[in-house]
Amino acid sequence: MTRKNDQVNATLDRIIGERRSHRKFTEKIPPDDMIERIIHAGLHAPFAASAIGNQDDYFRRFIVVRKDSKAMKELIPLVYSEVLTMRDNLAKKMKTNADLKNRAAPFMNRLDTIKSLGMVPGIGTAPFYIIVAEKRGFPPVELQSLAHCLENMWLKATALDLGFQIVSITAQMADNARFCSILGIETGNWALMGCATGYPAETLSPSIRPSLKEVTTWLE
Ligand SMILES: Cc1cc2nc3c(=O)[nH]c(=O)nc-3n(C[C@H](O)[C@H](O)[C@H](O)COP(=O)(O)O)c2cc1C
Repeated sequence: MTRKNDQVNATLDRIIGERRSHRKFTEKIPPDDMIERIIHAGLHAPFAASAIGNQDDYFRRFIVVRKDSKAMKELIPLVYSEVLTMRDNLAKKMKTNADLKNRAAPFMNRLDTIKSLGMVPGIGTAPFYIIVAEKRGFPPVELQSLAHCLENMWLKATALDLGFQIVSITAQMADNARFCSILGIETGNWALMGCATGYPAETLSPSIRPSLKEVTTWLE
């Protein structure tokens, strides 16, 4: 390997190691240019070409919502009320399904926490809430494409020294007509994922994971 390659790889490994979930942000607002660089990284992530076919319309959209904006003020109660509905529906199903009761318990705890907080973390708590819309196709692999996109954005935000938080509840809003209308997209045609970004309010250690040996099998 050349010297240049060594440096490039060391930098990439460092960014991968430093990528963390930040959930507290300062009031300082990053310049729009940084947000555009994050979106550029997301746009260059792979997409499921054969699933969406060769449609004229573009396969991926980014909607940037600023903290305290008019749009943000509308989105906050909309998502919160969707969380409450989701919580109540899940609670009903859990009453009659013991297996679901076990499996969904941690998620239910999360929904209960959001309910008692009275707000959805990541929506209105960072300078920017970015929603990514990916065209629905067949087979339905748009959530996988969104995961690739968000990971690229996350790594880029890390390289820019910005904090980044996935706001996965955004996915549940894909069929909410009012939510889609605020975003300016047609309801039902897009899968959604969201993230929050801004300057991190705390320093986190690099990510901690098990050793490669514990999780890797090499077959002969
Ligand atoms: C599919 C997916 C959904 C996630 N949803 C959320 C979320 O809604 N809110 C949040 O704060 N973190 C969310 N996370 C972040 C994880 O909790 C986090 O990646 C994990 O705890 C490991 O921590 P790290 O990112 O700091 O390494 C999500 C991560 C993934 C992959």
